[in-house]
This record gives sequence, C-alpha cells and structure tokens, in this order.
Amino acid sequence: MDVKLAKKTAAIEAVNYVENGFIVGLGTGSTAYFAIQEIATRIKQKVLTISGAVSTSLQTEQIARQANIPLLNSFEKIDITIDGADEIDPNGNLIKGGGAALTREKIVAAATENLVIVVDQSKLVKKLGAFPLPLEILPFGWETTYKKVESFGCRIGVRKADHKLVITDNGNYVFDCKFLEIDEPEKLSVELNQIPGVVENGLFIGLTKTAIVGRENQNTEITRF
Ligand code: A5P
Repeated sequence: MDVKLAKKTAAIEAVNYVENGFIVGLGTGSTAYFAIQEIATRIKQKVLTISGAVSTSLQTEQIARQANIPLLNSFEKIDITIDGADEIDPNGNLIKGGGAALTREKIVAAATENLVIVVDQSKLVKKLGAFPLPLEILPFGWETTYKKVESFGCRIGVRKADHKLVITDNGNYVFDCKFLEIDEPEKLSVELNQIPGVVENGLFIGLTKTAIVGRENQNTEITRF
C-alpha cells in the first residue's frame, strides 16, 4: 500500500476546506506536512489568502517559514486546523502525540472551529488503545508520576531517540503508555490529567469535526461529527 499517497490525498482534500481570510492551524507530522505544502502552493498561486497560521510544533513552524506561510504569534480562535492522528475511532476520537506535539496540538484543536483530521486507512480503529498513548510529563519528579500513571494498568515506555530522552518543544518528557484497549477514553483522559506532573495526554475526545481518510487510489472518505 502506498501510505504516502493516501496521506497526501487526504491532506490535499482538507485544504479545500480552507477559505480566504481564515486563521489556519497547522498540524504536525508526515500527513499534516502535505497540507502545509498545499496551503503554501495555493498562497503562492494567489488562489488562497489566509489571515495567518498557527503552528502546533517547532518542526511545523520551520516548515511553514520555509514555505513562506505567514505565522501568528498569538491566537484566540482558529477557523480551521488540519492535523494527523495516530488512531481515530468511529466517533472521531483520537490518539495523538506520536510526534511528541500533543500538548500544543490539543491547545490548537480546542481553539478551532473545524478540526479536520487527515489520515490513511491504517489509522482507523474500532477502539482506541493499540497505539501506545503518549503523555507529556514534567521532568520534575517524573519517577513518582511514572508510578501513578502505571497504576492505571498500562506498560510505560519513557520515549527515547538515539538513546537519549526525547524532550518536547515545552521542555518535557514523553511517556508512551500501552493500554491495548481503552474502554472509556473520556474518563481516562480526565483522570490522567488529574495526576500532578502530567502536562497533557494524547486522547482527543469530541474535538474532531471532520475526518478525511485518504486511499492510495486517491479516493477520500469524509465524515462530519
Ligand atoms: C504529532 O504529535 C502527532 O499527533 C501526529 O499528528 C501523528 O503522530 C500523526 O503523524 P503522521 O501524520 O506522521 O502519521
């Protein structure tokens, strides 16, 4: 399966939802990347004008700058955000944070009128949880936070890359929590965020307004929530 083409197909379709004058949230990851490039192309071709864009990570900020997309330093309301996901269930609930950008992604998603999630079909699940749930964790006292998160019945991996701890854009650690199946994602999300030291978790509940699934034959399936 050509996953890249499926991701690109979904991302390009999503850009059709961006209207002139919109404030646009830019997601993080390999699928959102295609949307950023498409937005840049349309701005350059003068077929789209946006009021400005909000980035969900330093990585995305760099991509947007290189593509000459005007970035905003502050925001209250965002008209549309196009972002990827690690899992999406039939209700549009998500696991995000595979790229460690979950906290900024959630802040942006929660400020957004139309959160458009773009995925290839491998991200579709009946129940969330097979993908380890990312948690952003304050470094201070992380060992005690680890014990508290573990008591929820998950296996935790402290995220590393090249044998070094991954540090988020906010200066924090990431726990990847293997639950296998999450029965009550909304409840879990609330309870995890009550643990001191948990900055945010990667469950995005009730935030998705539009889901676009791209197929490698360049068809898309669009669901509104
Ligand atoms: C970033 O932190 C994540 O939430 C990404 O949106 C998610 O991992 C999807 O990434 P891909 O589009 O690269 O699969």
